[in-house]
Amino acid sequence: MMNHQELKQAVLEEKKKQGVLILAHTYQSPDVLEIADITGDSFALSKAAQHIEADRVLMCGVRFMAETVKILSPDKEVILSHPGAGCPMAEQIPPKSVEQYRREHPDHAVCAYINTTAELKALADVCVTSSSAVEIVARIPQQDILFIPDKNLGSYVKQKVPQKNIHLMNGYCHVHNGIRPEHILRCKQQHPGAKVAIHPECPAEAVALADMAGSTKEIIEYALGTEDDVIFATERGVYDELSLRYPNRNFYQLEPELMTCVNMKKTTLQGVYDALTGRGGEVIVMDESLRRAASASIENMLKYGG
Ligand code: 13P
Ligand code: SF4
Repeated sequence: MMNHQELKQAVLEEKKKQGVLILAHTYQSPDVLEIADITGDSFALSKAAQHIEADRVLMCGVRFMAETVKILSPDKEVILSHPGAGCPMAEQIPPKSVEQYRREHPDHAVCAYINTTAELKALADVCVTSSSAVEIVARIPQQDILFIPDKNLGSYVKQKVPQKNIHLMNGYCHVHNGIRPEHILRCKQQHPGAKVAIHPECPAEAVALADMAGSTKEIIEYALGTEDDVIFATERGVYDELSLRYPNRNFYQLEPELMTCVNMKKTTLQGVYDALTGRGGEVIVMDESLRRAASASIENMLKYGG
């Protein structure tokens, strides 16, 4: 059994030997982020996926992220770090209900959060990430837009882009959707003067009490750009990483138990080693017609998102 340092060294040697590029979402644990070649939020990872030179890519994150890489880089071998790492929200909306909506509203655009299965992306006109949603929705030519699956992010976009008619379905992220106004009020009381940074996947009543709302990337920029203490109202990966990198700052995690995405935490350093050595992970396989259909909506996101 290797100790942590030996395991880290073995991972670094193995990824070099095998020519594998490692992508990791910010919600991964700090020891996984440390061995990754590219880290960031969903938009940063999607953009990176477009320009990868390596033939093999290991995605440390959840299934829809590995699928996104495969959709954009079909000739590459894309490995998901843990076969059981899914995002429940990505599968919440049955494709049949979107097909029915399209039949009933042929003049509406369908906009899919990137946290969706390839099947749902294939039914959409354009994808968005939390970093790009407001900007992209404002640029969609149609006046009426169905936003799937996250009703909370959809309501946030609706408020920021009042010139569009945004229609919602009942999807949500069970990690962010659990945040209540009383959690925020209690944490503010415990840390007077600290500012609250919240992800718009949280319910609107909670977002209304925060000092800033934004994507993973925007929350990190906000925390690093202020001298105030910060309470993070998002998945705890952001807090874990920033408090390690900036030990002199006063950062606090709102409801740490609630704000842990168990799927994101399924990937461990040992799991990365196993995936690199063929003892774990899952190679993503996708039907070519599905891939092509899904790719159009992601390409539109990258086009509209700049
Ligand atoms: P972003 O990376 O777009 O901020 O998304 C948050 C999230 O929940 C990812 O699963
Ligand atoms: Fe899905 Fe929520 Fe986990 Fe993100 S934090 S992967 S949206 S369950």
